[in-house]
This record gives sequence, structure tokens and C-alpha cells, in this order.
Amino acid sequence: MFHATIAGTGRAVPDRILTNDDLAKMVETSDEWITSRTGIRERRVVSEGDILSDFCVRAALPALADAGIAAADLDTVILATCTPDHLIPGAAPVVQHKLGAKKAAAFDLNAACSGWLYGLHVADGLIQSGKSKNILLVGAEFLTRFVDYTDRSTCILFGDGAGATVLKATKADHGVLSTSIHSDGEGAPFISMPGGGSTFPPNRPETLDKSLMYIQMKGGETFKIAIRSMVEVCKEVLAESGFTTQDVSWFLPHQANERILTATAERLQIPPERCVNNIGRYGNTSAASIPIALDEYARDGRLKRGDLILITAFGGGLTWGAALVRW
Ligand code: UT7
Repeated sequence: MFHATIAGTGRAVPDRILTNDDLAKMVETSDEWITSRTGIRERRVVSEGDILSDFCVRAALPALADAGIAAADLDTVILATCTPDHLIPGAAPVVQHKLGAKKAAAFDLNAACSGWLYGLHVADGLIQSGKSKNILLVGAEFLTRFVDYTDRSTCILFGDGAGATVLKATKADHGVLSTSIHSDGEGAPFISMPGGGSTFPPNRPETLDKSLMYIQMKGGETFKIAIRSMVEVCKEVLAESGFTTQDVSWFLPHQANERILTATAERLQIPPERCVNNIGRYGNTSAASIPIALDEYARDGRLKRGDLILITAFGGGLTWGAALVRW
């Protein structure tokens, strides 16, 4: 039976850098507080006129080149994002068109920070069922467009960017070995952006008056559930495929907060040198964080063929999941 393998990666991040010292001029905070509580030193921020689907294309082109396939050979484009270009159309068909992926079906997937992981689960299923052979899976966010820069508890966290992965059908012993995804809508209020949908449409004055177009987060509550959920789902995919954390070459958690990464790795007994960590330079880029990190670690040679990578994510929904991948 076929399964998915990650055949190519790419990324595109904005040039503009917002440092902790820049933020300290905007809200009552400090580099010391942000660094010690989150591990974030700076984040990339889009400029006026930047368009998310353009960043997706810029990330996708090197991923396609890396995989050695043309856009015309793609049969599916999945774009994990909660900040698409527009509500209608989805951003994935726009990316499909800009790439010239004429044969591909394209759709957006919103599972917040778990979006890329959810996309991997769906893509692997499409490949296993024989419905797809070549899939472009992008995680991309322009979350800073929805950040309230007067709220110090959220504005320090988020950054922008796009990461792309090309998944190919294979019968080889590398690729996706196991995936698992979960959700619990009871935790919906913990991470939310209430405005802009059909409950609080953007054309109602209260949507703007009550600042409903901004990201809201109950950080403390989210922090504890995130660690517990990621530890559980990592154990689930390891058990399902007959591996233990001793076998894991790289642990790649969604880059939400360095303290969350460290605590999750510790509970799984994975040493820090095997934990992927680039949050200091990018902040939390939501659905983009995992594919950006994959591309960075693949291109600088830290990921080696045969490495076993344990990937996990947690985000709004609540949603969470894990995957075990042989590189
Ligand atoms: O990607 C999806 C998943 N996301 C997450 O999992 C994020 C999870 N949560 C977090 O990363 C952390 O909870 C935060 C970084 C958001 C907050 O860190 P914390 O250690 O949980 O701080 P806290 O919210 O408990 O706040 C502690 C204190 C408060 O002051 P008082 O009430 O003790 O006087 C806050 O007002 O720190 C204050 N505070 C700040 N101080 C300086 C909150 N934000 C800031 C700030 N600068 N930026």
C-alpha cells in the first residue's frame, strides 16, 4: 500500500523584523520578560501590501524543485491557515492558480496552530486511499494582521510566514509512519478570534467596537492543556508504530512557547539537543511553524535521511495531533 513521504520543503518569511525591544516601546513589557517567559527574541512581520497566497507560492516553488516535480503534476493543494487572503474564495485555489497547478483540487484547512499536522493526516489518507499521488501541503499565517498591539499578553507571541511541503506517494520504508489528530470544542474560548465570521460579521459596528477582530487567548489555561495533550498524542503515535522516544532522532513540536517545548520534551524524556527549536527568531507562526522548521533543519543538513522525526502540534479549536515520520 502507498503512503506519503515528504519529498520537498520550502519557506518564505517576511524581511521585516520586530524585536522585543521594539515591542517594549509599544506596550509595557521588556526583552527580559518576553525572553524568559517565551524564548522569543524577535519575530517576522508582514508589510502593507503583502498577500498570504504570494508567500505560499514563494514557499512552494523551492519545495517543488526539491521534490523534483512540476506544479502541473500536483493533484491536490492543501493550505493550512486561519488567516486566508479572503473568506471567499479560499486561498488554496488562488495558490493553485498562481502556481499553474492546473490538475489540482485545492482547499483551505483551518485547525489553527495544528493546521499543518491536520493537513499531513489528511494528505497521508488521500495517498493511502489512492485518490492522490502528489500533494502540496502549505502552512501559512499572517497572524500579526489580527494581533491587538495594545494587549501585551498576545502581541509578543505571534509572527508571520509560510512553510511548504511536497508529499509524494511511496511504498518505501521512509515517509509518514503514523499520524493521529484530536479536537475538543469545549476549549474553544481558550484561543479565539470571534469577529469576521457569521456570528459577528465584519460589517457590524460591534465587531470593531468590541475589538472582536483580534486574537484572544487565555494563556495560562492553554499552556497546561497544550503540554498534557501533546505528550499523550506523541505516546499514542509511538505506541501505534512500535517505537519509543529513545528511537526518536528529532522532536519537532509546534513553536508556541519555548517553555512548552521544553516541558513537553522533558515529559517524553527527549533531551534538548534533539528538540527542534527556532522560536527565538520567528515567534509563534501558528500553522506555518512546523513546515518552516522542517525546511530550515532540512536545508542546513541537520535532518538526515533515515532520521525518525516525532512531530506534534496544539492549537485553537482546541485541536492537537502528532505524526511519526522517517526522513
Ligand atoms: O499556539 C497555540 C498554543 N498557544 C499556547 O500554547 C500559548 C500558551 N501560553 C503561553 O505561552 C503563556 O501563557 C504566555 C506567554 C501567554 C503568558 O506567560 P505566563 O507565564 O503564563 O504569564 P501569565 O499570563 O501568568 O502572566 C504573569 C504576569 C501577569 O501579571 P500579574 O497578574 O502576575 O501581575 C501578566 O499581567 O505577567 C504579566 N504579563 C506580562 N508582563 C510583561 C503578561 N504578558 C506580559 C508581557 N510583559 N508581555
